[in-house]
Amino acid sequence: MKQLEVMNFLNEVSDRFPAAYSLASGRPDARFFKSIDLPRLQQQFIHYFADKTGRSFAESQELLLQYGPSAGIINDILAQHLLADEHILTSPEDIIVTNGCQEALTLICLNELSKPEDCMLTLDPSYIGLSGFIQSIGKHIEPISIGEHVLHDSIAFKANLEVEILNTLKKGYQPKAIYVNGDFNNPLGFSLSELHKKALIDVCSTFKIKIIEDNPYGMFNYEGQCAATIKSLDEQGCVYYIGSFAKTVLPALRVGYLVLPARKIDEVAQLVALKSLISVNTSQICQAVIGGHLLEQEFSLERSIQPVRDVYKSKRDALVSALEHYLGGMSQVKWTIPAGGFFLVVSVPFNVTDEDVFRCAELYGVIFTPVYFFSLAEHTNKRLIRLAFSNLCEAKINDAVCKLSEFIEFKIGENIR
Ligand SMILES: Cc1ncc(COP(=O)(O)O)c(C=O)c1O
Repeated sequence: MKQLEVMNFLNEVSDRFPAAYSLASGRPDARFFKSIDLPRLQQQFIHYFADKTGRSFAESQELLLQYGPSAGIINDILAQHLLADEHILTSPEDIIVTNGCQEALTLICLNELSKPEDCMLTLDPSYIGLSGFIQSIGKHIEPISIGEHVLHDSIAFKANLEVEILNTLKKGYQPKAIYVNGDFNNPLGFSLSELHKKALIDVCSTFKIKIIEDNPYGMFNYEGQCAATIKSLDEQGCVYYIGSFAKTVLPALRVGYLVLPARKIDEVAQLVALKSLISVNTSQICQAVIGGHLLEQEFSLERSIQPVRDVYKSKRDALVSALEHYLGGMSQVKWTIPAGGFFLVVSVPFNVTDEDVFRCAELYGVIFTPVYFFSLAEHTNKRLIRLAFSNLCEAKINDAVCKLSEFIEFKIGENIR
């Protein structure tokens, strides 16, 4: 299935079986939404904006309701947030506020892939927001498979990356950037070690390839400290950093941002011009909510995230306990225990098909996502399924795994017969 069709397929399954438990949806838990007091946070930001620009409150409020600058209006606040939470030192001029991570990805692709031979690289499998978009604009994206061995060995990771880049060059493509979701990855749940991240920077600066670091799950760490971001380790100026407030504040606001690899006035201008042609500007009303929230939190989301993180950790634990309870006796079935994020991966002893997704939803009332949906590689592992634990409550997670285990048991039996 083409990446472009995957979202449609999953939407079709959930539309046809609305009562099915979805272990496919990585939507945030809605129980925290009501703690975001939209009018108060907007007011907070308007006071700040009025003080900063020497305007009256009424004048600032009026400006907020108008069209606004394409680059955004909360860039200075974002720069302070990045320093506080990610140790990323950047200036407001190098940040562009976007409609979620998704728009940041599209802007970078359009900016980087200008010549016919230009292509994007991606660790594979990976989030389909980027690969689907590249396919939709008729550009090339080259998958770099990430087997278990390279995830555990940064030297093997580096060697594999170099070989794949050379192979891509031999095919006549010019890789411009590599897409990496290196912390609590979607779909696999892994995190790259600091050694892996440094190796990536090393290889990419040698080959003059930029890195697109997409980091929507970095703050959802359930075991100790967050790892350093690639951007904070980058001394070469090769990393585009992409952030989102969809999971940390509210998905409906559609506020994200991108940080340029290095200060280049022309490049900022080019990206801002592109943004003005795609969405004009990110809603200033929504930016004001994020701005107000960050001001109220003194730029760091650590305090407001903690209760949310605790809930997701408990859901991860509920999923792992349910897997142990219902599938622990099946030695051929294994699963990962991610240290953060929204997803874990179950490995089953049979090839999963598109039809299985339908069958499981229809007959067992559970929706899951096969990992091959996220893969562009020709020979991809069809025995992995991704389970999202962010959206369902603990009791439903248990019931969903009970049903899923019946499906897996049926499939194993079917394969033996
Ligand atoms: C890795 C990754 N990047 C980006 C996004 C999209 O983020 P946003 O809602 O900010 O566009 C998602 C959403 O699920 C994601 O998993």
